[in-house]
Amino acid sequence: MALTTQMLAPANLRCEYRTDPLGIDVKAPRLSWEVVDPRRGAAQTAYRILVASDEALLAADTGDLWDTGAVPSAETNQIEYAGRQLSSRTRCCWKVRTWDAGGRPSPWSSPALWTMGLLERGDWLARWIGYDAPPPGPPAAGPPAQPLPHLRRSFALEKPVRRATLYATAKGLYELHLNGRPVTDSLFTPGWTDFAKRIYYQTFDVTALVRRGENVLGAILAPGWYGLRDRHGRDYRLLAQLEVEFADGSRAAIASDGSWKAAYGPILAADLYDGESYDARLEMPGWAAPGFDDAAWAPVLVAEAPEALVEAYPSVPVRRTGELQAVRVTEPKPGAFVFDLGQNFTGWARLKVKAPAGAAVTMRFAEVLEPGGNIHTANLRSAKCTDTYICKGGGRPEVWEPRFTFHGFRYVEVAGYPGAPPADAITGVAINSYMPHAGSFECSNPLINRFWLNTLWTQRGNFLEVPTDCPQRDERLGWTGDAQIFIRTATYNMDVAAFFTKWLVDLDDAQGPTGAFPDIAPRARLPFPVGEGNAAWGDAGVICPTTLHLVYGDRRALADHYGAMTRWIAYLEANSTGLLRPAAGYGDWVPLGEETPKDVLATACFARSARLVAEAARTLGKADDAQKYDDLYERIRKAFNKAYVSGDGLIAGDTQTCYAMALDFDLLPEALRAPAADRLVRNIGAHGNHLTVGFVGVASLLRALTKAGRTRAAYALMEQETFPSWLYAVRHGATSVWERWNGWTEEHGLFDPAMNSFAHYAFGVAAEWLFSTVAGIDTDGPGFRRIIIRPRPGGRLTHARAVYHAITGEIVSAWRLESTGLQLDVTIPPNTTATVYVPARTAADVTERGKPASEAEAEGIKFLRMDAGAAVFAVGAGQYAFAVR
Ligand code: BGC
Repeated sequence: MALTTQMLAPANLRCEYRTDPLGIDVKAPRLSWEVVDPRRGAAQTAYRILVASDEALLAADTGDLWDTGAVPSAETNQIEYAGRQLSSRTRCCWKVRTWDAGGRPSPWSSPALWTMGLLERGDWLARWIGYDAPPPGPPAAGPPAQPLPHLRRSFALEKPVRRATLYATAKGLYELHLNGRPVTDSLFTPGWTDFAKRIYYQTFDVTALVRRGENVLGAILAPGWYGLRDRHGRDYRLLAQLEVEFADGSRAAIASDGSWKAAYGPILAADLYDGESYDARLEMPGWAAPGFDDAAWAPVLVAEAPEALVEAYPSVPVRRTGELQAVRVTEPKPGAFVFDLGQNFTGWARLKVKAPAGAAVTMRFAEVLEPGGNIHTANLRSAKCTDTYICKGGGRPEVWEPRFTFHGFRYVEVAGYPGAPPADAITGVAINSYMPHAGSFECSNPLINRFWLNTLWTQRGNFLEVPTDCPQRDERLGWTGDAQIFIRTATYNMDVAAFFTKWLVDLDDAQGPTGAFPDIAPRARLPFPVGEGNAAWGDAGVICPTTLHLVYGDRRALADHYGAMTRWIAYLEANSTGLLRPAAGYGDWVPLGEETPKDVLATACFARSARLVAEAARTLGKADDAQKYDDLYERIRKAFNKAYVSGDGLIAGDTQTCYAMALDFDLLPEALRAPAADRLVRNIGAHGNHLTVGFVGVASLLRALTKAGRTRAAYALMEQETFPSWLYAVRHGATSVWERWNGWTEEHGLFDPAMNSFAHYAFGVAAEWLFSTVAGIDTDGPGFRRIIIRPRPGGRLTHARAVYHAITGEIVSAWRLESTGLQLDVTIPPNTTATVYVPARTAADVTERGKPASEAEAEGIKFLRMDAGAAVFAVGAGQYAFAVR
């Protein structure tokens, strides 16, 4: 490594958690960067931000929009823009420099950008347009037609263009083309909201796609979530506005309106659950490019604007994020070839085929196989998950993939293929909301490594626009319980800040007038009544914003959602008796062998949420509220203990989940903690170190054991390979996290398909423990400004290593048991400090790079104390190599 002895230019400049976002509508967007400085103890003592309305001004170090001057501060994120008021379309070019502890400035960062979107309703000239004409007669082959409208508009640009910006949204999904080329690699735009309340638009820089002379804008409309099973409607509409700035300073706009023309094309049907059908014989080559003859196209219809708010998309787009090749192809029944892509994931298959015109190839998708090798589709319920491609022929290989459906699958059954398909006839295309991966975990047990990877794949598969329960059956909904259970784990795997910032709005939009948070957000018309006010599900409204604050230092998440949180608490209080919650709701959801009383569980959740709201109030400087919710928390605790806890630590229900929650949420009086922990450990032992917990208990279990100093029991559960356990599924080839412990067993095979998903992430929460306890990386207070490194080697593990890219930079904790003792390598990012717990009998046993660590103050290491079998040191930024005799 090249050793530099000074602060380098700040890196990873982001605005509202995104790199160079276009068209935002946050009036005071939050900026962040990372300090780059390899020196031990490196810190930022001041920063200066420049924001300029164009690149040239910024290059000349002029911030006409905002020049903060040198601000004495160690902050590197959540810095709110406070310059000139920003109006629609403003370009904000920005850079930052920082000062180190010695007062020396860094170089300026590379320039970054954000632009403002259309902030006023009046900025939109565009009208909502669509095409509802009855489709042409059914094609010769394939399923009944519900073809997708294609819309186009030709226009001329006579002068050289300086910049072209396209704003677009839809009821349904839209895919935009400009001069024959796709406008973006984002998929499933404009995303998923409660369309009755809020619709997001996207902004694209299309300067490189426009040209002088004739230009053509094209759009395809699809049902997406809007039209899925009639959730909102079938009136698919486009709103699009292309704004052109010419080199001479003049402007023009081309907007969706009655001048556009429409026709149906080759996409016969597209449904998120049922799949997509495509007849290549109906292709219209060049339909979105100049020179195409659209004389036969019909006029579009112009519709009323919906009442929903039209706002800038605040999240990260869905994109293609990987490709998978077949590891095996079989033919379990004649003509049906099953491709095994080796991984359960979310996306679709790209088909390559050479066949005569009219030949139809169908693809069906499944997560698992039946005993005979055929695909198991019963667990998809009513979702048909079938894609059909009808060949155009002509003797050349044809390549096709859908864009308006997706599947959760590992296996693809291909039928109608001419002859035996080669292995590369199918390529898996993985898609998900595009977030940077934040963490990785590796240890000496390959099954645990695979388990961690399964949590990541299951997260990817379910973080598609909103956090969903599953990606395969006729559900795929924003179940609030699943999301809150997994969110903390999710933050270790990926940077979920922007993704959850958006979903928190969905959650608020879905909150009922009584203050009850729902079971599902966004809300929609569903074939079953959407419940609300349920323990652990509704608590997502408190747990998710407070988690964003904890992990990313996001105060705004607290401020924006504080009102909703307090309404939730008021709802719970009003709907409880003597602060005990009724025995209603989902309880511990799919536990195995032990049922936790629903009132015990719900009251524990109530207490926890009250405490989190008290903390939020404190952070926001609302002292009276903090007092009020602290007091409420104490009163719920009292009621809980009085109603459910005996003097010997027995908790009503006597289940793993009861003890886990009570210990995790600090509900017990000091004197009963150890007895309750003993009972939990005994319960686990009595089950032969097996789990009985459901969705709710699992989130607390390992944390509770660790907190109570019973990591040995936690390791016994984590390393367990027999049923039921985390590694049982892994040992039997799972590549994702299952909905149920008994989704498949050696004894009974596949569980009842009525509810048996192989991609539900709740039971994946043990990955949080791998990061926070096995490797020992955690935040100490909000935002990873202060870090805790507290690895707890245990079980049969001989080494473990986690890397976590926090909002402040990259953290590493890696330990290894050597013949000489324990080796612990730690990296602490610049401008942060850490408390490092080195497992040791005495401080004298610990060295750092060969020197006694307790005497290494000159090296930036300060010995603090001995604590529960660890020598505790305070360190600053830098890399440390500890060794323990
Ligand atoms: C979903 C769950 C969800 C649950 C609520 C199921 O159908 O898949 O993950 O949380 O219902 O009871």
